[in-house]
Amino acid sequence: MITQPSDPSTQHSTLSPQSSTLNPQHSTLNPQHSALSTQPSAPSPQSSTLSPQPSDLSPQSSVLRPHSLLITGGAGFIGSNFVHYWIKKYQEDRVVILDALTYAGNPANLEPVANHPQYRFVHGDIRDYDLVVNLLQEEKIDTIVHFAAESHVDRSIHGPDAFVDTNIIGTHTLLKAAKKVWLDRSSEKSESSLIAQSSVLSPPSSLCRFHHVSTDEVYGSLGLDDPAFSETTAYAPNSPYAASKAGSDYLVRSYFKTYGLPMTISNCSNNYGPYQFPEKLIPLLILNCLAGKSLPIYGDGLNIRDWLHVDDHCRGIDLVLKKGTVGQTYNIGGNCEKTNMEVVEAICRLMDELSPNKDSVPYSSLITYVKDRLGHDRRYAIDANLITSELGYAPAESFETGLRKTVEWYLANQDWCQNVMVGNYREWIEKNYED
Ligand code: NAD
Ligand code: TYD
Repeated sequence: MITQPSDPSTQHSTLSPQSSTLNPQHSTLNPQHSALSTQPSAPSPQSSTLSPQPSDLSPQSSVLRPHSLLITGGAGFIGSNFVHYWIKKYQEDRVVILDALTYAGNPANLEPVANHPQYRFVHGDIRDYDLVVNLLQEEKIDTIVHFAAESHVDRSIHGPDAFVDTNIIGTHTLLKAAKKVWLDRSSEKSESSLIAQSSVLSPPSSLCRFHHVSTDEVYGSLGLDDPAFSETTAYAPNSPYAASKAGSDYLVRSYFKTYGLPMTISNCSNNYGPYQFPEKLIPLLILNCLAGKSLPIYGDGLNIRDWLHVDDHCRGIDLVLKKGTVGQTYNIGGNCEKTNMEVVEAICRLMDELSPNKDSVPYSSLITYVKDRLGHDRRYAIDANLITSELGYAPAESFETGLRKTVEWYLANQDWCQNVMVGNYREWIEKNYED
């Protein structure tokens, strides 16, 4: 059931069915722990109920088993796919979604899982510190997976303020709340009194994780012959969106280095798949084909993106959560670089096959070059060697299989499409493509 109170504060006093008992598995460490250590001299954060001291803070390996997750932005594209993924795979886990339901947030994305007994939806803003603190405490959240963001580059060009507010201030509010609930209570009390109270408090910080979902766009733009972005590539964000994500990444890192907040970051490439709002390239092209509208390609159409099916992204985050090194950043990619022209041509071919135009005119006839995006990054590409070698990640979908599934999903869910292409959406399309 979706809870959508007009006043988010009404959620504060609602205790979940699990909230009075600490899940006994919280104290269970995975036996693989020692096998993964890359920093043998650093004390493991899992070995104590106290948070690591700032002086200990180089990245440290860990194996975590989340039990009560706060998923911010869970009504958006990737967040909702992650909620589906997690509920299907880990049926016992508590899944609490915090989402402000901006234009990009859609309760319909969560309908298939909304009746799951461990599911709770909270309509609220990540910038609401009291709300977040209360949720972390009430639900004994041990894992925050932070998707909530303003996520569209073109909108950031037209109106950057919302990007600073949500992506930087919002992320910082979450960090402050996590520090308050996971760390500050540890330093306020002695370890023994903490252990004595462990049945009523949130889980110890050593079993908690703040996972921040970020983007490859923080690294800037690659030339055609440049090596792909690795975790050590210098940040060089070019759009207000990318800059706001870079700022949020730095804040997350600083809360680890300064306070010992257990965190990980993943920087991923362009996602595609079900429930993506049709302002982004792939769903926009599919829906424009269906509507017989032009297929707008910015500039010369030769910009390159590294496409990642959202299911592969979810599996990558799962691996980082459970086996990732605390304090580490992981790049997640699809190993799938395509020019925008290759993408539009592939979509046209699939649409010709799966939903032919009634006059049998190829959809490629709708391709239209439009003026370029300001500051348009030429190429993104992810070097995913770290997550592959350390955590065993490999994308399961090729672009061919993933795109086919995606087109099929949009064709089978035209009610969903019609419902999101209203009001604000139409205004946005007019504004962005007015020339
Ligand atoms: P999206 O725009 O589809 O969804 C964002 C969600 O966040 C929406 O449900 C929205 O309602 C919610 N939200 C926005 N502001 C909020 C606030 N102040 N409080 C609470 N909720 C709020 O985004 P997405 O494409 O699913 O991206 C998710 C995350 O992944 C973002 O952090 C984005 O930067 C990152 N990312 C996305 C891609 C991609 O290709 N989509 C690629 C790399 C990284
Ligand atoms: P987009 O899906 O907005 O993702 P991002 O900007 O985060 O990479 O755009 C993907 C690519 O497609 C990017 O190079 C811009 C281009 N593009 C178009 O050519 N036409 C469009 O209408 C849109 C939305 C994007």
